[in-house]
Amino acid sequence: MNYKKRILVTGGAGFIGSHVIRLMVHKYPEYLIVNLDKLTYAGNLENLKDVEHLSNYRFVKGDITDASFMKQVFEDHDITDVIHLAAESHVDRSIEGPMDFVMTNVVGTVNLLQCARDKWEGSKDHVFHHVSTDEVYGSLGETGLFEETTPYDPRSPYSASKASSDHFVNAFYHTYGLPVKLSNCSNNYGSHQFPEKLIPLMINNILNEKPLPVYGNGANIRDWLWVVDHASAIDVIFHKGRIGESYNVGGLNEWTNLNLVHYLCDLMDQKLGREKGASRKLITFVTDRKGHDMRYAIDASKIESELGWTPSITFEEGLDKTVDWYLNNRAWVESITSGEYTEYYKNMYDER
Ligand code: NAD
Ligand code: TYD
Repeated sequence: MNYKKRILVTGGAGFIGSHVIRLMVHKYPEYLIVNLDKLTYAGNLENLKDVEHLSNYRFVKGDITDASFMKQVFEDHDITDVIHLAAESHVDRSIEGPMDFVMTNVVGTVNLLQCARDKWEGSKDHVFHHVSTDEVYGSLGETGLFEETTPYDPRSPYSASKASSDHFVNAFYHTYGLPVKLSNCSNNYGSHQFPEKLIPLMINNILNEKPLPVYGNGANIRDWLWVVDHASAIDVIFHKGRIGESYNVGGLNEWTNLNLVHYLCDLMDQKLGREKGASRKLITFVTDRKGHDMRYAIDASKIESELGWTPSITFEEGLDKTVDWYLNNRAWVESITSGEYTEYYKNMYDER
């Protein structure tokens, strides 16, 4: 088959990557989508069961830090474009052990940039889309929003590794003319998110009537976006964004952690037929995260005015869908929360 593009999507078995792949394989049958993933604790091929039979989808298991292997992948599949999502993504894990974050997020990204540069040297019409986070901008006070021009000020090992990768992406654009695009998105939520992140962790614990660990006093603020809307933003930036530019992605949707947990408790009490207020009783204030960023909030006016992208649904609608998905997919949560994950969390909570 003579595909119009042969896109390498890294980290496609993870949370956001699986949504990006689902969107791309259906919307663009004229593209070959090659999902390259190491299948760490966070990567799960169950996330892609519904698309794995499609002829324009391929899966390759591998590690983006492996230079010779990645070079071969670019050759074997004649890769024309990259959407790079593979990363170590959880802040608490980065605090426990930063080195995996340096390896995958920094070394792995530079390795991919080198492969793309070698492969595309002397030819045109390629895109290397690097998917990053708003956490590279640091932490906001009570007012203000992150803009694309906000100076980088990463404060956790996770955000430092992502900031470093962003700098390398820009350096490859300026130094070698590699056709890069960057997106920096706020916190995502939705189906298939590993239940170590706030929203799926709370949903799972409410369901199982386990304590709901709120860090510090719960006043920290995050700006939440439905993962399907993030995938559509990536699609728009990949196709229409300008080379060498960064785009912030977010939905003007700030919530304190405590208000969000209250909302989830009340929503789930309703859905599970529990007495009003029952789940709120599970809230447990625990030791704060080290160096906990206070507030994130995105100014997404550039992607809106330049590329016409806006979120498709409200937070309330998105949370409703998300809770329903977790309630209807309990076996998914059980299968991925065995093994390494259980060990990690046992140790983590023992320290508190
Ligand atoms: P995730 O942890 O769910 O998935 C990461 C995927 O990368 C997994 O499938 C994992 O197996 C794979 N991976 C990890 N190390 C690898 C390696 N060395 N080689 C190949 N594959 C490897 O992460 P996510 O939440 O889906 O995030 C995806 C990307 O989006 C990341 O780059 C993250 O920084 C960024 N991002 C995430 C959010 C969010 O709220 N989750 C927000 C903004 C940006
Ligand atoms: P998280 O989902 O880990 O995303 P990030 O740290 O990348 O923003 O956490 C979101 C917020 O929720 C953050 O302020 C930390 C807080 N949090 C809790 O209060 N309890 C928890 O168990 C977790 C995982 C997070």
